[in-house]
Amino acid sequence: MNEDVIIMAIESSCDETSVAIVKNGKHVLSNIISSQIDLHKKFGGVVPEIASRKHIENIDPVISEALEEADMTIKDVTAVAVTYGPGLVGALLVGLAEAKAIAFAAKKPLIGVHHIEGHISANYIEGDFKPPFVCMVVSGGHTHLVHVRDYGKYEIMGKTRDDAAGEAFDKVARSIGLGYPGGPKIDKISREGNEDAIEFPRSYLENGSYDFSFSGVKSAVLNYINQCKMKEQEINVPDIAASFQKSVVEVIVNKTIKAAKELKLDKIALAGGVAANSKLREEMKKACEKEGITLHYPSPVYCTDNAAMIGVAAYYEYINGVRHNMDLNAIPNLKLSDRF
Ligand code: KG4
Ligand code: ZN
Repeated sequence: MNEDVIIMAIESSCDETSVAIVKNGKHVLSNIISSQIDLHKKFGGVVPEIASRKHIENIDPVISEALEEADMTIKDVTAVAVTYGPGLVGALLVGLAEAKAIAFAAKKPLIGVHHIEGHISANYIEGDFKPPFVCMVVSGGHTHLVHVRDYGKYEIMGKTRDDAAGEAFDKVARSIGLGYPGGPKIDKISREGNEDAIEFPRSYLENGSYDFSFSGVKSAVLNYINQCKMKEQEINVPDIAASFQKSVVEVIVNKTIKAAKELKLDKIALAGGVAANSKLREEMKKACEKEGITLHYPSPVYCTDNAAMIGVAAYYEYINGVRHNMDLNAIPNLKLSDRF
């Protein structure tokens, strides 16, 4: 392909309104992220209706800013990409309606992108990381262990049976009074704690399973706090945070390494908001070094929700001929299924 492929990507599946301009699936010309965290903080989590309304307010200025920063107009764009699931339906619909309107008015192809494929594709932005590899996707809503055979070609090896990893971080953080979003707060305060202070359970499920379960460790933390209260013992927040984090990270690292070894793959990637966790990065790095496996993870800005990752995923869809019609709808529970 001689001509540059310029994708305008829109991401609005949760509480970030983001628009990016991405060249040839690699070069991020702009990636504007308008976060609503401050708005949802006082409710202890994302309020869907508020999120949708805020996306409506934000989307036009964020699009203008993304084009401006990339020094482009809509005429320079090859295709318009948008996350169509999974996510909050009202939030997704704002991005989708905007993407359709722009694609229709500017006569550009429309490409719907799966949010998790976006997270995986964030690994192609920096460095020279290429499939095949094992990708551990750990975000607020998802926990998937994926065999990435090629660009856009996946086999799901395992997923969570209950809470997502980020959800467990957020719920535990709330129970120890750290507020929302809990993941980064647990990450930070854990550095002051003793990770061996409390032995929380590690759930490996049946032998050989690549599935996850984080509700047990979450309940164990809640029980521990209740017991402390009953015995009128002091609650040591840094110790609880560090011990909880250790138990979650240990399971994620062990299962990911096992999967790579079983598939005889020498590359592992992390993706999603929890991939920004410093303990997870550190432990995964140590384990990979021991096994001679190359580890890749995106910079924190590309781990949490952003439109650049959607633009990268859309590029591979575009060159594979994927185009969506104007009847493309938001699918809140869109599954990541095997694609060969
Ligand atoms: O990928 P993301 O932005 O949204 C979803 O697609 O869900 O992930 C957000 C999740 C939240 O649960 C947040 O607490 C978690 O990622 N997170 C972290 C860290 N930074 C964000 N969890 C642990 N440690 C972090 N440093
Ligand atoms: Zn996400």
